[in-house]
Amino acid sequence: MKIARVRTHLLEHRLEVPFESASMRFDRRQHLLVEIECDDGTTGWGECLGPARPNAAVVAAYAGWLVGQNPLETEKLWATLYNALRDQGQRGLTITALSGIDVALWDIKGKHFGVPVSTLLGGRWRESVRAYATGSFKRDGVDRVEDNAAEMAGHHAAGFHAGKIKIGFGVEEDLRVIRAVREAIGPDMRLMIDANHGYNLSEALSLGHRAAEYGIDWFEEPVIPEALSSYRAVRAGQPIPVASGETWQGRWAMKEPLETRCIDIVQPDLCGTGGFTEMKRIMDMAVLSGVRLVPHVWGTAVQIAASLQFMAAQIPDPVRVNPVAPILEFDRTHNPFRQAIVTRPIEHENGVVSIPDGPGLGIEIDRAALAEFAPRD
Ligand code: NI
Ligand code: CA
Repeated sequence: MKIARVRTHLLEHRLEVPFESASMRFDRRQHLLVEIECDDGTTGWGECLGPARPNAAVVAAYAGWLVGQNPLETEKLWATLYNALRDQGQRGLTITALSGIDVALWDIKGKHFGVPVSTLLGGRWRESVRAYATGSFKRDGVDRVEDNAAEMAGHHAAGFHAGKIKIGFGVEEDLRVIRAVREAIGPDMRLMIDANHGYNLSEALSLGHRAAEYGIDWFEEPVIPEALSSYRAVRAGQPIPVASGETWQGRWAMKEPLETRCIDIVQPDLCGTGGFTEMKRIMDMAVLSGVRLVPHVWGTAVQIAASLQFMAAQIPDPVRVNPVAPILEFDRTHNPFRQAIVTRPIEHENGVVSIPDGPGLGIEIDRAALAEFAPRD
């Protein structure tokens, strides 16, 4: 079996109501899928975290090293592609593009052997995971405090045991949002806050101190990801556990944050940090450092399915009678193609998501939906 073709599929939807995180404004949803076709007809699917068109350009650049190669040799291909562009970038687009390719290759490998990727990774510890609702961005034209509180109350009513809201817009306003959300969801639902690296160090310390009384499970990306000493200061200087990692791509980028304990929870993104091949290594590194791993997930059903395969195989740390189970980040913002591109949507039931057990990622792509959500311009 040889790789015959590497294609990308750009998906886009213009948002009727734009929204913002602390670091980015979204007026459209855009995601990039990678399709790798083999000479025997086997096709694998992956997805790249980050800006779709730049990722597509890097995937196209990698294709020359892939065509004609054996798709089952995932480790060898990963190292070959990484080395090909190493001098131009050990992080960023070179790794996010490589991630989409690696996920597609593992999908092919699973289909070739007739088993889910989770089995290839070493075995399924679980058939379902609890999901947490990610939402409560800052939306145009509405009162943020009321809007976020009402949204999270809706996720609570839908059965979610946990939710994550966006902060980083200013300490005082953020605290009003956190207080209103906690009042709206009651004392039992878990709550996390994500600043999308919008604070400076003193703001992060102030927010952390004052938000702690509202029962916050983690404080995500309090400060910019380059500022590792600031991470250590946030972790040491306020009471909420610190989470980060969606921009630390690859094991080398993860090494210092893990070894110097910048965080309590590491959040590598399977489709951004190097795919299954690199994620396995990062999982081992997290265990060595005593850091809990909760994957970052922001994408279509392809990324969700891939993350579920990884989470099925995520070894409990420690293994015990009643282990801590991983939780799935479940994006609840508007995106009409998120689930439309697969024949069987991955939905939650009472906040719980079943892990597909078919070959590869366990999904089938609906090509008509790919065409429907291709960009018009
Ligand atoms: Ni819409
Ligand atoms: Ca985040």
